[in-house]
Amino acid sequence: MDERVVSAEEQGMEESLDQRVRPQSLDNYIGQEKVKKNLSIFMEAAKLREECLDHVLLYGPPGLGKTTLSGIIAAEMGVNMRTTSGPAIERPGDLAAILSSLEPGDVLFIDEIHRLNRMVEEVLYPAMEDFCLDIVIGKGPTARSVRLELPPFTLVGATTRAGMLSAPLRDRFGVLSRLEYYSEAELTIIVKRTAEIFEAEIEDQAAIEIARRSRGTPRIANRLLRRVRDFAQVEGDGNITLTIAKHSLEQLQVDELGLDHIDHKLLYGMIEKFRGGPVGLDTIAATIGEESETIEDVYEPYLLQIGFIQRTPRGRVVTIACYEHFNLEVPK
Ligand SMILES: Nc1ncnc2c1ncn2[C@@H]1O[C@H](COP(=O)(O)OP(=O)(O)OP(=O)(O)O)[C@@H](O)[C@H]1O
Ligand SMILES: [Mg+2]
Repeated sequence: MDERVVSAEEQGMEESLDQRVRPQSLDNYIGQEKVKKNLSIFMEAAKLREECLDHVLLYGPPGLGKTTLSGIIAAEMGVNMRTTSGPAIERPGDLAAILSSLEPGDVLFIDEIHRLNRMVEEVLYPAMEDFCLDIVIGKGPTARSVRLELPPFTLVGATTRAGMLSAPLRDRFGVLSRLEYYSEAELTIIVKRTAEIFEAEIEDQAAIEIARRSRGTPRIANRLLRRVRDFAQVEGDGNITLTIAKHSLEQLQVDELGLDHIDHKLLYGMIEKFRGGPVGLDTIAATIGEESETIEDVYEPYLLQIGFIQRTPRGRVVTIACYEHFNLEVPK
């Protein structure tokens, strides 16, 4: 089944449901205990000092809750959030305009912050450090630089690729929080919470089954739940039972570990064409017809996490655990 084929109306409905499902406060934000505990202390301290929170960098694989958490930070600090993204800010002037329109204390959320261009980044340095903008007026020998004061603000940056951030930018964040994959127990709570918002009855075992196959990722858990709910509605009486959950996940080609047909294509490609590697990322990408970046950001982190592939200096290799999962013979 191709999940990308959805009508505009369906898409709109899913987006509005998404808004209701997205936790709005730290209490509703399940898991990530270490990150939450630290952030709540830093927020509390900032409030006590009547300052704004130091700049925060959130990093980790897609769908783990970076955007959600930045909204929660703004809500908990009682300020507004302005949202933009690295690729959306093309020129230094664009960023200067955003920065000078902030209210004191506001959160500026920059998604995909590793994709800011160099010139824009340079505007950000004094803004983050001293809350000011250095603007050059005029050209040639008469050009001069003027400093404009900005209201104090909190920059929240999100990235799936902390390693691609330039060192000067990374160093200007006071709080660096890495989001981790969620446990099965945490995802079970998330699935049940979402089911409650959908007003759908779900068996405990069904919630566990969906959680187990969600690759440690809340976004996937919620998406699988929506699809399983569709099966329950059309093929059952609306109740999400374990039987319905298992049957639907099979139909969706999501295996017991949460691996889908693209993971299978990737792993089988490596095994059948390259005897399990080592093989370079670009070669894998070309073989299975996916973008290298998508593999690196979306597929590979989870396969590394469950120990199905390893990165070596000569390329990626499939591990014995992976051969065993697929009941395949390990090549000599
Ligand atoms: N801790 C959590 N508790 C409950 N639900 C969560 C949690 N984190 C994320 N979610 C759910 O997962 C969805 C995806 O989260 P979010 O959009 O914040 O991920 P992201 O890290 O920003 O992903 P990307 O890197 O793709 O931008 C959200 O809509 C939210 O409903
Ligand atoms: Mg996001």
